[in-house]
Amino acid sequence: MSYPYQIKSLEQYHEVYKKSVEQPEAFWDNIAQNFLWKKKWDKVLEWNFKEPKIQWFQGATLNITENCLDRHLEKNGDTPALIWEPNDPEEHHRVLTYKELHFKVMQFANVLKNNGVKKGDRVCIYMGMIPELAIAVLACARVGAIHSVIFGGFSAQSIADRLQDAQAEFIITCDGAFRGNKDIPLKGVIDDALIACKFVKRVIVCTRTRTPVSMIKGRDVWWEDEIKKVETQGNPFCPAEEMSAEDILFILYTSGSTGKPKGVVHTCGGYMVWANYTFVNVFQYQPGEIHFCTADIGWITGHTYIVYGPLSAGATSLMFEGIPTYPDAGRFWEITDKYKVDILYTAPTAIRSLMGFGKSQFIGKHLSSLKKLGTVGEPINEEAWQWYFKNVGKEKCPIVDTWWQTETGATLISNMAGVTPAKPSYATLPMPGVQPVLVDEAGKEIVGNNVSGNLCIKFPWPGMLRTTYGDHERCRQTYFSTYENLYFTGDGCLRDADGNYRITGRVDDVLNVSGHRIGTAEVENAINMHNGVVESAVVGYPHDIKGQGIYAYVIFSTEMKHDEDLMRKDILQTVSRIIGAIAKPDKIQFVSGLPKTRSGKIMRRILRKIAEGETENLGDTTTLLDPNVVEEIKKGKI
Ligand code: PRX
Repeated sequence: MSYPYQIKSLEQYHEVYKKSVEQPEAFWDNIAQNFLWKKKWDKVLEWNFKEPKIQWFQGATLNITENCLDRHLEKNGDTPALIWEPNDPEEHHRVLTYKELHFKVMQFANVLKNNGVKKGDRVCIYMGMIPELAIAVLACARVGAIHSVIFGGFSAQSIADRLQDAQAEFIITCDGAFRGNKDIPLKGVIDDALIACKFVKRVIVCTRTRTPVSMIKGRDVWWEDEIKKVETQGNPFCPAEEMSAEDILFILYTSGSTGKPKGVVHTCGGYMVWANYTFVNVFQYQPGEIHFCTADIGWITGHTYIVYGPLSAGATSLMFEGIPTYPDAGRFWEITDKYKVDILYTAPTAIRSLMGFGKSQFIGKHLSSLKKLGTVGEPINEEAWQWYFKNVGKEKCPIVDTWWQTETGATLISNMAGVTPAKPSYATLPMPGVQPVLVDEAGKEIVGNNVSGNLCIKFPWPGMLRTTYGDHERCRQTYFSTYENLYFTGDGCLRDADGNYRITGRVDDVLNVSGHRIGTAEVENAINMHNGVVESAVVGYPHDIKGQGIYAYVIFSTEMKHDEDLMRKDILQTVSRIIGAIAKPDKIQFVSGLPKTRSGKIMRRILRKIAEGETENLGDTTTLLDPNVVEEIKKGKI
């Protein structure tokens, strides 16, 4: 495949960027010609950020799987689409060519149909990182069902909340998942979730770990048995459902500053164009290269840069089931050498954790195939950037620092590998079509360079979220009401003298723990579920590996107070049950009161400073109801 829209030089970037801002409709009209549409659009863009209403390629119809699969068959049918590396390096890897993946997606799409899945139905996918996860995602898209993938680390309660919110009647899962030396009983977690979700009609279970599972008559079926039925039906072909560009492709839940995760909605046409455009340009993908994105498909990074971006570009995408430190810290490097990986895209938290293992992880590893490196998910500190550049990239691979969000569908700000300059810890320049602005607290635009403020975007791009599922008002309030006519990212940012952007972190009550977004209110709600807890306040603090750690201040009922260690363990267990292990606080400090204003508002600023180790400059504490409480908290700091 060739990519006529791939930008090749810094000068060209500036030209293209200018055009994308001056004539956005003509610009995207032109880019969109490179895809397979069943019917072309009547209008490129219709929008206002007030409601918000965002529609790209109005009137067009397509099926994204024809772009990701069918259109590659003739010339690149035998090109590997997916390479799968299992958790256990001794187990055989798998390679699926475009022909094979196309076949398997159609087969499973027919399974979905046989099980009553129709266009517009919501299908929840809760699986480990095996090829069948990508197949399930694409099969949903094939039949026009809306997939909602839930990361395998979320608890039964979290799944139940999401199933209810999406009213998902279908689930695709596995008996279990392998991750490092763990075996996670996915189907068991689903069974617990379904106690509260009687509306679920069908659970399709794929075999992976052979963990014993209970299969409920009339509800649960095996993936493999259903495939056999399709085989005996004879015809594996499954036509691609004709979807409007603005039909929903998927829902992906993410945390915000309130207690309840929201279902970010992406649609078929715009998301496809955006995922592909950014993949081709940011990574400067060349046909034949092996792209290794280490994320999980349970997060947006996996959706966009393991599945839809690479496959729509006819690329070879490497999918890894395990974790970077299993069986040892050399695993990423072993995989890189084994498959001659060209592009490695990972998270700063993985880099920082590997840094701690020293040089021995590289013994016997060449890494000579690597051409480009990337990071995503959180700000990368200079030390980690340099380590990555020197030890992994051998000082010859450009690093792209891609800033984006679940809501943005794909990268908004990043350098382009080897084409636009990198600057350590800077995401650098906006993608064509992206118009960032920095604003002050009052919403006034901060112009010029060498400035900082809250990061907003003032014009739509094709892959932006359209709504939050089932609650458009929440979408408006969260993203479009803070500043008039702007999309508010929730991130703080600075712009240097050359116009490069550096993301400084969240400015709302959202934490970024190991690149995963966790709302403080969500963690507080979970802690407060424990029957001994009276009240809690959660803040972030700098953590060497995770980027941010979770610090919880907890008031425990005096009647139920006993062994502190046990109380801590009980709270951790509660959070694991309610959200999942990823949200467990790193530190829990028991306190007798929280710093509150006279109107009852918790002064998180003070708690944050104490958690960060600051004892002196806590700011004005005179407005507190009880200033003494601050002294007590300072003394008890962990
Ligand atoms: O704070 C930013 C941070 O991650 C947030 C988005 O999280 P999520 O929706 O889970 O998506 C993560 C993967 C795209 C952002 O608001 N973030 C993401 N990438 C970067 C980043 N912060 C700094 N630099 C980045 N490259």
